[in-house]
Amino acid sequence: MAINKERGIKEMTITASPAWAAINAHRQTFADTHLKELFASDPKRVESLSLSFDGILYDFSKQRLTSETLGLLTALAKAAHVSDWTERMFAGEQINRSEGRSVLHVALRRSAGPFPNSRFDVMPDVVATRQRMARFAVRLRDGECLGHQGMPIRDVVNIGIGGSDLGPKMMGQALRSISHPALGVHYVSNLDGAQIAPLLQTLDPRTTLFIIVSKTFTTQETMFNANTARDWLRANLGDELISENHFAAVSSRPERAVDFGVCADLVFPIWDWVGGRYSLWSAVGLALMIAIGPHAFDEMLRGAERMDEHFRSTPFERNLPVVMALIGIWNANFLGAATNAVLPYNESLKYLPSFLQQLEMESNGKSVSVAGETLDFATSPIVWGELGNNGQHAFFQLLHQGGCLVPCDFIAAVRSDFPLPAHQEALLSNCFAQSAALAFGRNKDEVRASMEKELIGPTVIADLLPHRVFAGNQPSSTLLLTSLNPGALGSLIALYEHKAFVQGIIWGINSFDQWGVELGKAVASRILPALYDAQLAKTLDASTQGLLSFSREHLL
Ligand code: F6P
Repeated sequence: MAINKERGIKEMTITASPAWAAINAHRQTFADTHLKELFASDPKRVESLSLSFDGILYDFSKQRLTSETLGLLTALAKAAHVSDWTERMFAGEQINRSEGRSVLHVALRRSAGPFPNSRFDVMPDVVATRQRMARFAVRLRDGECLGHQGMPIRDVVNIGIGGSDLGPKMMGQALRSISHPALGVHYVSNLDGAQIAPLLQTLDPRTTLFIIVSKTFTTQETMFNANTARDWLRANLGDELISENHFAAVSSRPERAVDFGVCADLVFPIWDWVGGRYSLWSAVGLALMIAIGPHAFDEMLRGAERMDEHFRSTPFERNLPVVMALIGIWNANFLGAATNAVLPYNESLKYLPSFLQQLEMESNGKSVSVAGETLDFATSPIVWGELGNNGQHAFFQLLHQGGCLVPCDFIAAVRSDFPLPAHQEALLSNCFAQSAALAFGRNKDEVRASMEKELIGPTVIADLLPHRVFAGNQPSSTLLLTSLNPGALGSLIALYEHKAFVQGIIWGINSFDQWGVELGKAVASRILPALYDAQLAKTLDASTQGLLSFSREHLL
């Protein structure tokens, strides 16, 4: 597959490449080999099919592949010119073609500049913003930011949605054990007033600061919640409300934040070269920095930067993001998996599945190539997930016996942040048990032997046997962190970011736009007035008319 440098696009889809054909041929000879056989035939399997970097162990030995598969997959990455595209991203080229933008979230975690180059150096702005954020965060953490009547701010509410919410919320939860003990940091994203209304009831308007986070500063959900917050402050503090004591903002359109009433000194910039779902590292992470402090925030950036360097400089065979991306492609395009489960075994990672859902599905849930051609192969799988231990008592039944292929990412930290070691040991053993059970299953002979051991009679055995068989061969990877420290978490999230990038390059799609979210927004803006106007409703489709008429009857 050649790159047309002038047009900046790939000339043919990857499925037409010899590398793709070679993987297909390999799959045909290999597809039905059971994980049990793969483990039995290669005692060094775990050694050759696991990698570690920066305190993260990535064990993919329970994926349905061999070193040979991996060799063929890395040839695919080479055929797709992944290294060239990586360099183009790091060089600040406008690889987000449909929006004419560079993709430089990696700049946000760099410790030094110039970057990407001395003619187009974003680092002075990045560093200056980081320093402003740190000064503000320290003042807040030290009780020096004063609200109404000089009372120190005690609660911070991040108002944003999607990339302006999920990153800091996910990381804030992951690092809650090192959060400021006396500051409450809350997140509001939903248009449903049922999120902000009960939260406001728990807050004191005199000591609450809202951070309105919106790249565009036009997002409906965020503007509704911001207006509600402002009304609440006005209603409670009356004319004495001084906005600068109660609002900060993060936006690439600072003038809109100022128009809203945020004091210009407390508007923090982001730039069009940062995608929303890649913006955790920017001022979008302000609420997180307030919670964990600038030092820990910086450690998180350093972890991500280490992963960036690893990604850029490590041969594909040992490169964590590349290998992870290739395994995803193997599962989706060659084994036919339509989904990927994210299963954290750690309460502090409870928002990780939602974060990764946006990262992967908004980046790669596309079926048109960069060049505008319709793709006839699968791209992003449906990413979903839940805390693993809770999931065991809910949907794991289907993973074990439902007959669907569901590759899983098990994610855990070896050490807990909370001093209940017995819980942690049991939790880890559950995590390891599930991936082993999914991989190896239990065949008829094993089930029969275990029932005979329990002295169960032959008739009951015959009845129950089919129900107690586990086919196994369900692929999974396990990511183990030593602990949930800021550096390891920064590294983990950068790993998934680069995974999505590599997959987008191989599939030939633009991972950095999101046109698919626009239509729903436009339709919603036509439906809202029709809620009150029956004539207008008649211009809409029959189903929407029916929904509106039922709602009108019960709402108004
Ligand atoms: O609707 C999708 C989206 O544009 C996401 O890509 C983005 O993270 C989110 O909305 C929020 O956008 P903004 O930061 O402009 O409010």
